[in-house]
Amino acid sequence: ETGESGGARAEIGVIGGSGFYSFLDDVTEITVETPYGPPSDSLFLGEVAGRRVAFLPRHGRGHHLPPHRINYRANLWALRSVGVRQVLGPCAVGGLRPEYGPGTLLVPDQLVDRTKSRTQTYFDGEPLPDGTVPEVVHLAFADPYCPTGRAAALAAARGRDWEPVDGGTMVVIEGPRFSTRAESRWHAAQGWSVVGMTGHPEAALARELGLCYTSMALVTDLDAGAETGDGVTHEEVLRVFAANVERLRGVLFDVVGGLPATADRDCLCVRVHDGWELGIKLP
Ligand code: ADE
Repeated sequence: ETGESGGARAEIGVIGGSGFYSFLDDVTEITVETPYGPPSDSLFLGEVAGRRVAFLPRHGRGHHLPPHRINYRANLWALRSVGVRQVLGPCAVGGLRPEYGPGTLLVPDQLVDRTKSRTQTYFDGEPLPDGTVPEVVHLAFADPYCPTGRAAALAAARGRDWEPVDGGTMVVIEGPRFSTRAESRWHAAQGWSVVGMTGHPEAALARELGLCYTSMALVTDLDAGAETGDGVTHEEVLRVFAANVERLRGVLFDVVGGLPATADRDCLCVRVHDGWELGIKLP
């Protein structure tokens, strides 16, 4: 399953969002095949703070994949197959409260799925290419994000004087269009904090594979209902992300350095497979 990885390994994965197409300078590029098809791009392997990291641009280099076309299953499978057990998922989001303006970094602790067309499980009853039929699995997902990864993300941001918002709910819409004002007002009225397009099913699939997953949401705009102007544009999202990508990269370096060794993980993410008779052989 590791295709042409040639034995190259990593322990931590970073899935870069809009405007985030490279993470490290000194990298080994590998292509990875999965039973679910190709991931969004090659994996770029390098080292940060003495840790082996695999970077994957979520939309592909040059941003050719819209959120609903991303092969989330292949992306997480590919990362796991080279050894990754902890994943950091930076992403661009719209703020749903006036105080969450552009440049806010929010580390969510909850998500709401408003997507429509995405495969959100590896256990969908279809036989795998190797002929095995996965079990029916109902994932425990009350707490979608890794508590250890969240703590590391918050500490790293604070360490670089970027006071993060600790917790909040990310609502994930199908896209690729942005929300109407009515949708946006409704999202805000629910008490949800930020809105994005890629946070689901990424987090759920990571949990199914026993991976720790930490979302780091960079606010690029005030979403339609919170805004007095014409509403958010893609150009605005990319411009604000680009303006913040260097400090986000710095924070991510420190998060990587703050994560536990693979063998020392003791969060709910590793316990999720207790009691399962997994119908699939994990890479
Ligand atoms: N990504 C960045 N800004 C967004 C917004 N306002 N809505 C959905 N996804 C986004």
